[in-house]
Amino acid sequence: MIRTTLGLCALLTALALPLFAQQAADAVAPEGPSELAQSAQHPQTQAALEAKQAGRPVRAHDWMVAAAHPLAAEAGAEVLARGGSAADAMVAVQAVLGLVEPQSSGLGGGAFLVWYDAATGALTTLDGRETAPLDATPRLFQDENGAPMEFFDAVIGGRSVGTPGTPALLEEAHRRWGRANWAGLFDAAIGLAEDGFEVSPRLAAMVAGDMLNLMKSETARPYFLPGGVRPTPGHRLRNPAYAATLRAIARDGARAFYTGAIARDIVATVQGASDNPGTLSMTDLALYRVRERPPVCAPYRGRQVCGMGPPSSGALTLGQILGLVEPFDLAALGPRSAEAWRLIGDASRLAFADRGRYMADSDFVAVPVKGLIAPDYLRDRAALLRGTRALDEAAPGEPEFDHALRRADDIAIELPSTSHISIVDSYGNALAMTTTIENGFGSRLMTNGFLLNNELTDFSFATHSGGRPIANALAPGKRPRSSMSPTIVMEDGAPVLVLGSPGGSRIIGYVAQALIAHLDWGMDVQQAVAMPHLLNRFGAFEIEAGSSAMALQTPLEALGFETGLTPLVSGLHAIAIGDDLQGGADPRREGVALGR
Ligand code: GLY
Repeated sequence: MIRTTLGLCALLTALALPLFAQQAADAVAPEGPSELAQSAQHPQTQAALEAKQAGRPVRAHDWMVAAAHPLAAEAGAEVLARGGSAADAMVAVQAVLGLVEPQSSGLGGGAFLVWYDAATGALTTLDGRETAPLDATPRLFQDENGAPMEFFDAVIGGRSVGTPGTPALLEEAHRRWGRANWAGLFDAAIGLAEDGFEVSPRLAAMVAGDMLNLMKSETARPYFLPGGVRPTPGHRLRNPAYAATLRAIARDGARAFYTGAIARDIVATVQGASDNPGTLSMTDLALYRVRERPPVCAPYRGRQVCGMGPPSSGALTLGQILGLVEPFDLAALGPRSAEAWRLIGDASRLAFADRGRYMADSDFVAVPVKGLIAPDYLRDRAALLRGTRALDEAAPGEPEFDHALRRADDIAIELPSTSHISIVDSYGNALAMTTTIENGFGSRLMTNGFLLNNELTDFSFATHSGGRPIANALAPGKRPRSSMSPTIVMEDGAPVLVLGSPGGSRIIGYVAQALIAHLDWGMDVQQAVAMPHLLNRFGAFEIEAGSSAMALQTPLEALGFETGLTPLVSGLHAIAIGDDLQGGADPRREGVALGR
């Protein structure tokens, strides 16, 4: 085993594709520049990082893991190499991500998991989404006059913290599908937390970009900005409090988190937040449960694209986009065609219009799940795309819905954040899990070595519009609508592609594009995740700044679209399953695919 040197980092940076060299930190919530982790340890990891930068997929035959940081992928790889299942590996990966990529996901957040079981052929989806505290009210994010709060006024502090779901999800996945000893799955993360890990360029950039918020946080400042000084890349950071938390969970399971001393600290941190306290209580934590939901599958080009249904809008919106473009020959048009992007962009706008009106936690509001992806409905909506120019308006449709109440549209803000894990194990099981604490650094509250989420700001801040209720309004115990889209593509009953991405509500477009790139345009998984992005959620085309996609700006404007150049920092991790396994990791971030 060798330790990566700065020399390797410089070598890999020099290999970086010019296409992405101009990307800047995200303007609103800094997502950091495209750089490489300095902390890769295994020669295999170095080779995989070089393959990524050279634009080649990583190939393997037995198993594969793709995750957002080399140390996390290595922890998963070690579990898989020892005969662990994809569920075991996921636990090890998530435990390390919570340390080395703490701004994106961790114990204080929530996640959705899609599982393909090779023994039974069944697909299962688990919902580990945060819940609104029982004492939260629908007007939590409104001022005394009923006006919505400013977004970051709502995010920072205890008000936005939902009951975390990730620890319970890890335990439930291991209980169902684990083969390895639970406690041992935390060894890698505990060792790194105690011995220290090298702060990656991305984490250093994220801290630098969030200095003002982190400085104000009494709980997060001592860890991220000791003495007011921000860490530089390569700085060795230790987190003994996190190691102690992991030891407790390793010993006693998730109940060490949801009851007892850690739970009391979480509640005290949320309720005691100095300028924005929340209501999360011991009761909320003790009552938290993972929910198994029916997978949502939509047909596309002879496959089934399967993922997470409500409270995520991911699989439904993705299924709609794909269903709307399916009548059109995208393969013949090709990825450089403005006409292909007109179709994809307007399909996405139509799908996002339905998402805003109909999608929310189906335990609390009726959601027309079947109607939204019914073939007849999508065929009628696809007819709207038969013109030659951008749609003047993309309004919600009228899917079959036996619910009389008319709803208003919601445009909840979801800023880029989150992390995605894709795993295939040596038994043929496949796992896609997207995991988040919502905004970068979540609520900026920290306890016991981990950050607490701000997931409640994924609810609509308004409860009504024009006298009509909004489906994604907050209610006690309800789970906020998500865009997370962990996806497994099935063909003839077997998985052929596992993928997902971070990115707030852009996640859906990132995943749709990677799927179309792979299935229609014949790109391998590395090309598909690296391809420059074009997205359209709400009318204006977002085009990835500094990329070759900018060549489409003028042609799209000629078709009637507004356009804008912006950093589009996806974090796609994909595994294609065929004669061999091929892994792709997004060059915009520090992740890597490892396999054997
Ligand atoms: N908070 C990001 C999402 O759930 O989509």
